[in-house]
Amino acid sequence: MTIWKPDLEVFQGPRYRALADAIERDMNSGRLPQGAQMPTHRELADQLGVTVGTVTRGYAEAARRGLLRGETGRGTFVGSSTRKDSYFEHHEDTTEQAVDMGMNLPLHHFDPDLASTFLKLSSQSDLQSSLRYYPSRGRHQDRELGVEWLREHHGLPTSPDRILITAGGQHALTVILSSVFRPGDTLAVESVTYPMMKSLARRFNLRLLPIPMDSEGMLPDALESACQQHPVHGLYCMPTTHNPTTAVMGAERRQALGAVAGRHRLMILEDDAYALLSDQPFRPLSADWPDLGFYIASFSKPVTPGLRFGYLCAPDAWVKRLEQGIADTLWMASPLAARIAREWILDGTALATIRLKKQESRERNRLCRTLLEGATLRSLETGYFVWLELPEHWNATDFAKQASEQKVIVTPIEHYLVGRERPPADAVRIAISGPDTHDQLRQGLSIIRNLLEEPAY
Ligand SMILES: Cc1ncc(COP(=O)(O)O)c(C=O)c1O
Repeated sequence: MTIWKPDLEVFQGPRYRALADAIERDMNSGRLPQGAQMPTHRELADQLGVTVGTVTRGYAEAARRGLLRGETGRGTFVGSSTRKDSYFEHHEDTTEQAVDMGMNLPLHHFDPDLASTFLKLSSQSDLQSSLRYYPSRGRHQDRELGVEWLREHHGLPTSPDRILITAGGQHALTVILSSVFRPGDTLAVESVTYPMMKSLARRFNLRLLPIPMDSEGMLPDALESACQQHPVHGLYCMPTTHNPTTAVMGAERRQALGAVAGRHRLMILEDDAYALLSDQPFRPLSADWPDLGFYIASFSKPVTPGLRFGYLCAPDAWVKRLEQGIADTLWMASPLAARIAREWILDGTALATIRLKKQESRERNRLCRTLLEGATLRSLETGYFVWLELPEHWNATDFAKQASEQKVIVTPIEHYLVGRERPPADAVRIAISGPDTHDQLRQGLSIIRNLLEEPAY
C-alpha cells in the first residue's frame, strides 16, 4: 500500500475536494503512479486529521473524475475503472441476496408474453420479410406506424420522412451525438443528468455544460445566461421524467426553455424515455420546434428493453445525416424487432403492457411513500424510481455505501453529477422497480428508513 500524506492546506474549498485535487496533482506529477494502492480511508483520515467521511467523499470525488477506482474486497487503486457507470458498478457489487434498487429495471414480470407473440407471428405471411436488409432509417410501414404512435401517445405531430427506427434510446443518442455535433462542441445539460449521457459525451469528445435545475428541470434563465457566456450547440433534457430526480417540466417551463433554444439555435435533444409511464398530459418541445427538436421515444421502459426498439423524430434537415449514422453503427435497427413492435402496437399488447406497468408502479410508489413517510422524497405517481434527499448528517456516497453493506443497492448523486457544483442537498436514486417482489421492496425500504435515522458515523 502506498504511503501518501498530501498537504491539503495548499488547496481551497471543502476538504474532500482538496483531497481529490491533491490526488489529481500527485497523479500528474507521478507521485501517485497508476495502479498504486491508496491508503485505507481510516489510515488516511488519521494521517490527515480529518474524518473518515471526508476521505470517503474525497475518494468518491476522485473516482468521479476518473482518477481512482474501487475494487470490491481489495481496496482503492490509482487509475480509472473502464466501467464507470452505476449500472456496471452495481452489478459488480450485487450479491444474490441483495435488494437491488440500483438499476431501474422495467418490471419484467409484466413484459408481453413472447411465446404467444411468436406463435401468432408464425402464421403471418409477411414474417419472413423481417430477415431482409432495408434502408437504414427503417421500413416505410414501420415509420408510418411510428407517426401514429407518436401522435396518439406522445402528442407529437410528424411525418414518416422525419422518423428513423432505432435500436432504442441509447442508440438514438449515440447516432445524434456522433452525427450532429463535432468534437469540442458543447451541450447544455441539467447539473444532474442521465449518466450514460456523460459517458457518451466522453466518447465523442463533447463538453457538457451543467445548468442549474429545480423541480421542473433545467432553468431557462440559467440556460440563457450560459448561452451568453459560452458557445453552446445543443441542449439535452428529459422533460417528462428527468432521470434521476423525477422532475417533470410543466407547459410554461417547456415553452420558456424552447424559447431560449430557439433564440440561440440550440439543437434540442428531447429524451422522453419515460413519457408513456406518465399520468400527466405533456406536449413535446419538439412539437413546437420541429427544426431543432430531436425527439427520442423508446419501447424499453414502457414496454420492454430486450426488443431494442425506438423511434427518433428529427428535423428534416438532419434526417440524411442521421440515417448515415444508423448505417455506420448498425446498418439498420432489427426489422424483426420492428415486426414484433408492430404486432404489439396493432393488437393492443403494447398499451396493455403499459397499463399493467403503470398500475404496478403506482402501487410501489404508494408503498414507498408510506414506508419513507417524513423523508424528503421526490416521486411520481407511476415512476420507476424516486429521488431521496438526505438529511444533513448524511452524504450520498456514505449513505449508498452503508446501504450496500446491508445489501441494499441505491445510486448516489455522484453518478449523475456534471461538473463540481453540488446541489444543496445530497441525494440517492432508489429504483423501486428493481426488486422482484413487494416483500423485497419493503425490506429494502425499511433498511433505508432505518439508515436515515442513524448517525452517519
Ligand atoms: C433517460 C434515459 N434515456 C435513455 C435510456 C436508454 O434506454 P434504451 O436504450 O433502453 O431505450 C435510459 C435508460 O435507462 C434513460 O434512463
